[in-house]
Amino acid sequence: MSAAARAVVVPSRRAVTGRDDGRMTRVDRQHLGRRRRRASAFVARDVGGRGRSLSVVTNAAVAAFDVAGARIAGVGKAIPEKSLTNDDLSELVDTNDEWIATRTGIRKRHVITGDETLTSLGAKAAMQALERANIAAEDLDLIILATSSPDDIFGSACTIQAAIGAKKALAFDLTAACSGFVIGLVNGTQFIRSGGYKNVLVIGGDVLSRYVDWRDRATCILFGDGAGACVLTATTADACSLRGFDMHSDGTQNHHLIAQYVGDNGKPMSEGASNNGAFCNISMSGQDVFKFAVRTVPMTVNKSLKAANMSAEDIDKLVLHQANQRIIDSAAQRFGLSEDKVVSNIAEYGNTSAGSVPIALCEAVETGAVKEGDILAFAGFGAGLTWASAIWKF
Ligand code: UT7
Repeated sequence: MSAAARAVVVPSRRAVTGRDDGRMTRVDRQHLGRRRRRASAFVARDVGGRGRSLSVVTNAAVAAFDVAGARIAGVGKAIPEKSLTNDDLSELVDTNDEWIATRTGIRKRHVITGDETLTSLGAKAAMQALERANIAAEDLDLIILATSSPDDIFGSACTIQAAIGAKKALAFDLTAACSGFVIGLVNGTQFIRSGGYKNVLVIGGDVLSRYVDWRDRATCILFGDGAGACVLTATTADACSLRGFDMHSDGTQNHHLIAQYVGDNGKPMSEGASNNGAFCNISMSGQDVFKFAVRTVPMTVNKSLKAANMSAEDIDKLVLHQANQRIIDSAAQRFGLSEDKVVSNIAEYGNTSAGSVPIALCEAVETGAVKEGDILAFAGFGAGLTWASAIWKF
């Protein structure tokens, strides 16, 4: 019996009753009956609803999905029209192109203006990915939007769903800052692997320009806006592109990178409570986050490589969160990877948070730097603190 089947096995009578003699009370019998009815309903709904094959394992209405694999069928990106060069920023704060380029590798960043929103960027990236995947929006089962800056506090995945016409897809936001896309990619793959979904759209995007303090030279030089997307589609279990992954959080270090809520702290009847709520600007302890990234990125990629039964020599392209060129170089050096094996577009876009990995992937596919069959090492890290990596056969 598969692991998925074991997970939904109706428990034995003894386990249900908790009684040593194994006899059931009337309440026990009702409880077991309810569980069985729920399991039967689950089988019927999914056979009819999605048409995916299910194996009925026993007469006791136990069901298991066929285990599948996922592959990336298409990638897309959306970048705001307006860009700000380092020279532009030197008119706002006491900085200069030389300092920013040397310390970060960034030359410019793009920021939303006019009608541009996270939803519009996410929808544009999604449509491009769907077109390249040759999959209709109506055929999507799930949309995962990795973001920390939705247009609405309740999330923006559903507005993207509406904008692209993905009528039957479940859509939800995933908040894991700059690690969000990598975590979303693993999540989306898991839904395909074991959840009966066929087509999953994973979007990573942020518009942190809304939360940047444009008077703070320590942070305003870093961030830019943008979104990237990829369409995952089901394949056979053997052909699954996700070969290994590793994901972590450490909330004890949360204070190093925050944009906290400030307001009346949940006192609904207090004066002005209805208009006082707001989020602070981004506050970052740059050196601490830098050290954290340099330490954790090689660690997590190594763990993913191990899970994939691979070593650093197997990596064709390192696709890291684009936060600082020095962090990217340090990781590449640790793995002994030459420059041509490292994807970097930080000079053009800066740090687009959850958008950076999918935008980098999309550009690398567009330029031919990433080809079918390549082994990709993805890694994200940032606020939370969170860090995650995945080894992917493209
Ligand atoms: O996506 C989330 C993940 N975030 C990150 O990965 C960010 C990680 N951290 C970093 O990338 C770097 O720490 C920064 C780029 C933010 C800062 O670089 P740094 O080499 O760590 O600089 P620093 O903070 O140690 O500052 C060095 C000096 C200071 O001056 P003094 O005290 O030596 O006189 C700063 O005041 O550089 C000064 N400085 C600047 N000077 C010109 C800081 N920001 C600027 C600036 N322009 N924009």
